[in-house]
Amino acid sequence: MGEVSTIAIDGPAAAGKTTLALRLASRLDYLYFDTGVMYRAVTLAALEREIDLNDEEIMAQVARQISINVVPPTVDDGRPCTVYLDGRDVTWAIREPQIDANVSLPSTYAEVRSEMTRQQRRIAERGRVVMVGRDIGTVVLPEADLKIYLDASAEARAVRRLRDYQDNGQDASYNDILASMHARDRLDSQRDVAPLKPADDAVIIDCTTLTVEEVLDRVMQLIDQQEMDAQ
Ligand code: DC
Repeated sequence: MGEVSTIAIDGPAAAGKTTLALRLASRLDYLYFDTGVMYRAVTLAALEREIDLNDEEIMAQVARQISINVVPPTVDDGRPCTVYLDGRDVTWAIREPQIDANVSLPSTYAEVRSEMTRQQRRIAERGRVVMVGRDIGTVVLPEADLKIYLDASAEARAVRRLRDYQDNGQDASYNDILASMHARDRLDSQRDVAPLKPADDAVIIDCTTLTVEEVLDRVMQLIDQQEMDAQ
């Protein structure tokens, strides 16, 4: 009793959730699990099969049929984890701008979400996990020991995403990214099922002007405080 074992980190695209969660998981020796890769993998599978992303029923079938496997990095090329789609390494394929532009729609489908949620809960059952997403604190793990909602301005997030693309050698423009960021924010937060929003008991951290170190320190303080209070 008392250990902060399940940690949920939610927030909008490119707020810095991945960096924070990776650092936190490494500091605590917990499993890092990014649920966004699952929605990205479903989207990639559908695009490759030339399925109409508007067809909710077929999208649900795809979500149930495909096998998504997420494991610690298998290649030392800066990837936070390795993602397999039906046994194929799609770690970088799911980061292409085409996936960014399309992923929000399948994420609005209730049956796609329930399949992803089922798999995510199974992974979290073992505890000692930092799980990252949009609805982890609200839907997937409502009993998480600590819930962080990491926010930042759309402009700051667009700058970060632009840097990610450039680091990966991909072409992109700031204005296009900012527009796509606003569009995804709208879709993610206005959907009926599991919309992006902080859980009532989440700690909201706005990191627009904070460094990763500062955010990490804040979260470590929260964990220490909570574990002390529980003793
Ligand atoms: O965090 P990300 O950018 O990789 O997420 C990709 C998309 O997946 C995002 O637009 C919303 C969706 N998503 C979701 O709906 N629920 C989650 N738990 C994680 C991601």
